[in-house]
Amino acid sequence: MWEDLPLFPESASSLSGEVDALYVFLIAVSAFFALLICALVVGFTFKYRRRPGNERASRIEGSLALELAWTLIPLAITMVIFVWGARLYFALSLAPEDCLEIQVIGKQWMWKLQHPQGQREINELHIPLGRPVRLTMTSEDVIHSFFVPAFRTKMDVLPNRYSSVWFEPTRTGRYHLFCAEYCGTKHSEMIGTVHVLEPHEYERWLRGAVAGEAPAEAGRRLYEAQRCDTCHFAGPEARGPVLAGLFGRRVQLADGSTVVVDENHLRESIVAPNARLTAGWQAIMPTYAGLLREEEILQLLAYIKSLPAPEVEPRNGDGR
Ligand code: CUA
Repeated sequence: MWEDLPLFPESASSLSGEVDALYVFLIAVSAFFALLICALVVGFTFKYRRRPGNERASRIEGSLALELAWTLIPLAITMVIFVWGARLYFALSLAPEDCLEIQVIGKQWMWKLQHPQGQREINELHIPLGRPVRLTMTSEDVIHSFFVPAFRTKMDVLPNRYSSVWFEPTRTGRYHLFCAEYCGTKHSEMIGTVHVLEPHEYERWLRGAVAGEAPAEAGRRLYEAQRCDTCHFAGPEARGPVLAGLFGRRVQLADGSTVVVDENHLRESIVAPNARLTAGWQAIMPTYAGLLREEEILQLLAYIKSLPAPEVEPRNGDGR
């Protein structure tokens, strides 16, 4: 519907239509009230213009009906905006299961992306049609923002933590990727292209692209090289929790609170292990801040997430 308007981007994801509908609704409400207020201002200047003679304005004592109307009508409209916006926000935030997981690292001034099978891309992203894609993103330096207008997807990319966003492309084609956060001299050159391919074309592209080591495989090597397994294992001698099956679980912390083990919690546990210590374990893990690159931390996370949950419930987070 909007394709012919040069200022409106293409609509190419499963949620872009809903984002547009809310946007148009907001514009319509704003335009309606702007015009209403303009009309009333003009109308009242004529209605209450100065008359000949010594006419005095009459005193207005107030009107309950009027007060209720201009309170309840805006309340109803803003509640519509709130509920609609909140539902859409949750839909945009909560990625479905079985997403294609892509790792994104922003740096001055390029986008580095990696596929789960190991293929790397810079400033380009090839994805298949009709499959939800989830990006786990971090930055090596300053704040960037991953912006694909055709998908109505924009998410800040921050140093020292992960942000994530998902989308499901609904049309094949090439779409602009922008950095939408001013990040230095060449911010405007931090651009790229998202290629949405038919699934069989995507398979062909995957085979043709130079496949590096898969992140989970590189993570396994790192896990062994850094000797994570000397502390993290099952048994009475263990000095840290078993990591297999930990991802996505809720664990208790030393201060009594609980946290769901997600990417950000695992990342913090690697670079600042004692900041949020799991209950029942001693603060003996050294920090790996500065020893691991962002890419390596992402690889470790991919490996930890890939570990199958053990059959016997490990003693994570209980006292010992
Ligand atoms: Cu990166 Cu602007």
